[in-house]
Amino acid sequence: MIDPRFDPQFAAGEGGGLFPPAASTAGQTVDWVAAIVFAIITLVVLAVLIMMVTYAARYRISDRRRRGEPHRNVRRIEVAMVTGTTVVFVGFFVLGVYGFDRAQHPPTAAGALDVLVLGKQWMWKFQQPTGRREVGQLHVPVGRVVRLHLSSEDVIHSFYVPAFRLKHDVVPGLDGVAWFEATAPGVYPIYCAEYCGLEHAQMHGEVIVMEPRLYEAWLAEASGVDEPGPMVARGRALYERLGCVACHETHLRHRAPPLQGLYGRRAILQSGEEVPVDDAYLRRSILRPSAQIVAGYDDHVMPAYEGLITDDELFALVAYLRELGRAEGVHR
Ligand code: CUA
Repeated sequence: MIDPRFDPQFAAGEGGGLFPPAASTAGQTVDWVAAIVFAIITLVVLAVLIMMVTYAARYRISDRRRRGEPHRNVRRIEVAMVTGTTVVFVGFFVLGVYGFDRAQHPPTAAGALDVLVLGKQWMWKFQQPTGRREVGQLHVPVGRVVRLHLSSEDVIHSFYVPAFRLKHDVVPGLDGVAWFEATAPGVYPIYCAEYCGLEHAQMHGEVIVMEPRLYEAWLAEASGVDEPGPMVARGRALYERLGCVACHETHLRHRAPPLQGLYGRRAILQSGEEVPVDDAYLRRSILRPSAQIVAGYDDHVMPAYEGLITDDELFALVAYLRELGRAEGVHR
């Protein structure tokens, strides 16, 4: 039995259907780029078809027109065609890079909502910053940046919300960050876009975009399920339990970089490379610290936590580091 909400025809008015209207800020950019590319390609296809038909009629076998003489201005036509095509394709590329870059780098500004997304055969599980858990449904406020921290508990999945023009692979052992800012309240289907086993097609859910006031009310009500409590508090407890404090406190900064005021800035690595300090960087640095050693510090001081902490714990830890990183700090 198919849930009527996921029937394309039924869902057409609710962010479903083959061409759901864009309901996120990035979605509007994606649509705009797609429309330009589609318009230019349509013009080219039409021009080619019209020329084919025209020339087929004009130089038909019964026609006595003279043919076989080389055109005089071939060079000029060739240069124009090659230049035109190059300019158009470089234009496509620039538009694509612009959108891709925006999609790949979630805003690090304060006020964003950080949600943990776990893919599992065959369901989507979510966890709000307050610790509130959901399965198959994700409640978010309209007009606020939502950062998704995606991880898988088993195989490769892909988190897909057509109305937000958002698709991100969810790979075990890899830490993905995606983001969106919904522009209209409503219910928007989530799909899994990577074949992940027998019930792949049933691995769906919905994003419920609410007015901020209603969202706060929803968040405050008890869900009735066992919840671990606010992420930041859990993160702080872990930070202390794992002994991070021993090396990362300011007075010990010769052993490890201080973390206050770090989030949203740039770290300079031993290789001379500069990387943005965002969620992905923090996760990488906890799981595999040797991969990116900050200039001025030794490798092999910090243990790699890959396999030692759960996705859940990593998420809480990053939530705390984000708070710590926004605090007044030593970085200028
Ligand atoms: Cu999960 Cu397909």
